[in-house]
Amino acid sequence: MNFSALHQQVKTQTDASLLSLIDDLPDYAPRLKEAMRHALLAGGKRMRPLLVQVVGNTLDVPKKDQMAISMAIECIHAYSLVHDDLPAMDDDDLRRGLPTCHIAFDEATAILAGDALQALAFSILADSPLSEVGESKRGQLLSVLAKSAGYVGMCGGQAIDLASTGQTITLEQLKTLHKLKTGALLKACVEMVSIVSETLSEQAQQDLMAFASDIGLAFQVQDDILDVEGSSEQLGKPAGSDEALGKNTFPAKLGLEGAKKELDALHQNALQALARLPYNTDSLIAFSELLVKRDH
Ligand code: IPE
Ligand code: IPE
Ligand code: MG
Ligand code: MG
Ligand code: MG
Repeated sequence: MNFSALHQQVKTQTDASLLSLIDDLPDYAPRLKEAMRHALLAGGKRMRPLLVQVVGNTLDVPKKDQMAISMAIECIHAYSLVHDDLPAMDDDDLRRGLPTCHIAFDEATAILAGDALQALAFSILADSPLSEVGESKRGQLLSVLAKSAGYVGMCGGQAIDLASTGQTITLEQLKTLHKLKTGALLKACVEMVSIVSETLSEQAQQDLMAFASDIGLAFQVQDDILDVEGSSEQLGKPAGSDEALGKNTFPAKLGLEGAKKELDALHQNALQALARLPYNTDSLIAFSELLVKRDH
């Protein structure tokens, strides 16, 4: 299967699995249920499930473990977007080409949808059937997910983002901000899969995490570049939102060309880390390429 067919398959699978998760919930809070469905299903690229699958296939990790990790991560990601768009945060009204959750529903419902999606992520990882190795590592998987989502991960990064908006920060501080708010969840995809792998050596684990760290940061650098270069129609979210809000971004710090150079350097570093791995890394190379060349 070529890489774009694999991506398509991951999107279809992820959409169907997320839909059935929501359908299975009882109906006593229908507005909240609808808001959760809206947040989970409205046309995401499913880059994190794709990364889980690509790393999982490379390391021969059982499909059911890959699936539980993917679904849990995608729920955290969807919740982070719902809260990121709220008036108290980025105050955006368009996401994935549709009204953001608080616009389509209301603020209170969007806050609760984010809360419930976060809890759902942990339910999935705590309760889904896993392989024998997966079962023995469940606690470790939960620990990685919790760290990547919380203070030492995404939430911490979002807090630094808000606290530094409109202020000048150093390039090092900007890297920390981006590594936390976006890099942490992408890194967690790779780390959780590597925890379930039975064959990964310590050296290969280090190289794989170096790759994850570079692409995690690169993902947000490209997101910043697209916010400047893309149109709202192409992005499915408001273009120019960062500049309007006075956000700290790579283009704001280094200029558009400087940001693109940084993206290229991160991409090259990621490829070097992959070259050190004792595996066929063609699909990981293709993932890195998709990440830096994506146009939305
Ligand atoms: C957007 O993430 C927010 C960031 C963390 C940069 P994605 O670009 O993965 O958003 P979707 O899921 O495809 O909509
Ligand atoms: C968001 O960064 C990162 C998250 C943790 C959600 P942005 O604020 O740049 O994401 P977009 O551009 O709104 O998707
Ligand atoms: Mg934001
Ligand atoms: Mg935002
Ligand atoms: Mg952005």
